[in-house]
Amino acid sequence: MTDGPPGWGAPLHARVLDLAGVGAGTTLLDLGCGPGTFAAAAVARGARVVGVDGDRSAVAAAAAAVPGARFRRGDAHDPPPGPFDVVAAVQLLQHVVNPVVVLRAAARVGSAVAVTTWGPEEQCDVRAFGEALARWLPPRRPSGPPPLTDPARLRKVVGLAGLAVVAEDEVECPFTYVDADALVGPLLASGIGRAAAARAGESAVRRAVLTRLDVNRTRTGGYVLHNRFRVLVANR
Ligand SMILES: C[S@@+](CC[C@H](N)C(=O)[O-])C[C@H]1O[C@@H](n2cnc3c(N)ncnc32)[C@H](O)[C@@H]1O
Repeated sequence: MTDGPPGWGAPLHARVLDLAGVGAGTTLLDLGCGPGTFAAAAVARGARVVGVDGDRSAVAAAAAAVPGARFRRGDAHDPPPGPFDVVAAVQLLQHVVNPVVVLRAAARVGSAVAVTTWGPEEQCDVRAFGEALARWLPPRRPSGPPPLTDPARLRKVVGLAGLAVVAEDEVECPFTYVDADALVGPLLASGIGRAAAARAGESAVRRAVLTRLDVNRTRTGGYVLHNRFRVLVANR
């Protein structure tokens, strides 16, 4: 998956903070904090934030970007003891080995747990990247259990962790690109972009993506991809 353009997550982060009631003095653990964008939004509301990520470079980037929070390297399956008012797992669960273990551990150290996932594939225009490059990529994995993007599956996993859902919402986060270069550049730097370009060359990748995304082209030559995300807040 390619990363979104800068700022794409702002509506998602705002909805998580609203639904979880994060405000001045809230203690918040940001699991899988990445470069700290969500932590920054929480700090801006007056929350006291600890961020944890398994990737050393992400932790360093977050610490540099958000001096008002504390960051450390760690595994979301084994979070710091807290206690925290809120534990957030923003776009994390699809990356961990065992989402139930992560959520159970989050419930142990937090009063509330806030989770986000991509919406179902058909509600996310970013699927077009994979579709455009599919002919140069390995076949997708055969089906296992439904993905966490399936709302029923997400609720089930949350329940298995001993949590009770208290709020759920969907959030639209458009990915907006000023022109074709802004769209294709980050794709070519991503895992799937590099893999496809290694087989077909960058020009073929560019052509395939711009053809597939022609329907997303704006009148000014930019591109807008509409994507839906799911936010869920649960209590012990
Ligand atoms: C898609 S990024 C999301 C980053 C951030 N939460 C955001 O929304 O911008 C997933 C992050 O989770 C981290 N991650 C994946 N598995 C992890 C684990 N088991 N423990 C801690 N961090 C993990 C990755 O290093 C990455 O920074």
